[in-house]
Amino acid sequence: MSSDQLTSTKKTDSKAYRNGKQGTLVDRNNRSTIGQPTVHDPRMSCRNVNVYYEDKHAIHDVSLDIGKNEVIALIGPSGCGKSTFLRCLNRMNDTIDICRVTGEILLDGNNIYDKNIDVVPLRARVGMVFQKPNPFPKSIYDNVAYGPKIHGLVQTRDETDEIVKKSLLKAGLWDEVKDRLDKPGTGLSGGQQQRLCIARTIAVGPEIILMDEPCSALDPIATARIEELIDELRENYTIAIVTHSMQQASRVSQRTAFFHLGDLIEVGSTNQIFLSPMHQLTEDYITGRFG
Ligand SMILES: Nc1ncnc2c1ncn2[C@@H]1O[C@H](COP(=O)(O)OP(=O)(O)OP(=O)(O)O)[C@@H](O)[C@H]1O
Ligand SMILES: [Mg+2]
Repeated sequence: MSSDQLTSTKKTDSKAYRNGKQGTLVDRNNRSTIGQPTVHDPRMSCRNVNVYYEDKHAIHDVSLDIGKNEVIALIGPSGCGKSTFLRCLNRMNDTIDICRVTGEILLDGNNIYDKNIDVVPLRARVGMVFQKPNPFPKSIYDNVAYGPKIHGLVQTRDETDEIVKKSLLKAGLWDEVKDRLDKPGTGLSGGQQQRLCIARTIAVGPEIILMDEPCSALDPIATARIEELIDELRENYTIAIVTHSMQQASRVSQRTAFFHLGDLIEVGSTNQIFLSPMHQLTEDYITGRFG
């Protein structure tokens, strides 16, 4: 589906608006997606995704591509469906009984909602980092080694040592923990725990990392460390990050998707979304008129 098709209007009684910079005619009250929801070389392609919690329609017909080696920020006011949409990308919503997902989500061309897809390897390929750091009640070493062991990625102690070290190095935590790998993961500071959770995600060799407000429980220094890390990880991974911080979205992402009340309103380069938003709702949100 082309982005032109995706911008087709649903409502007729709205006023049109000419965007000065791009010169395109934009319907500012229209609630279907405007901007660039598709990319040439997508890693994931979501088409007409709807999510229901029983009879509550939480995500409305969302189509969005996630490009290779990009960080895409998902922004929007509380309750607009950011976490719900993020959880669709690795079928985490399957764990919620009342939740139903329709539409198509392709990972490298294969629909992850096909009946024959095993969610365990899928969640290794599409890893997730949560809002609150949630290390297992195990040692730092075992937190990282656990995933590779259960996925059969390591056979020997040497192989496990290597993957633990590599993952902690990539997560920027190795130097701080190398002398206390046998100590509990829960004994680390919040920022260190979040980097441990990132190391744990990286250890199983994901291609895509989903992050749901990964810094909201962290202080500014720990946040800056995670943001640097996201920038480094982008070389090897595709990242989708939910954030309430406009500054964070503009620092870490190349594309931004703005959600409102379950609709994907506007998608574009992060610069465009923050400097010249096309939709009135996007502008109102990023200028702090609501949210
Ligand atoms: N497990 C659930 N059961 C029922 N309704 C849910 C569930 N999870 C989310 N919802 C509803 O779906 C809608 C979207 O919620 P979601 O948590 O995805 O929003 P969000 O954008 O992540 O919000 P926040 O910024 O506060 O985290 C909300 O109306 C919410 O109440
Ligand atoms: Mg959320």
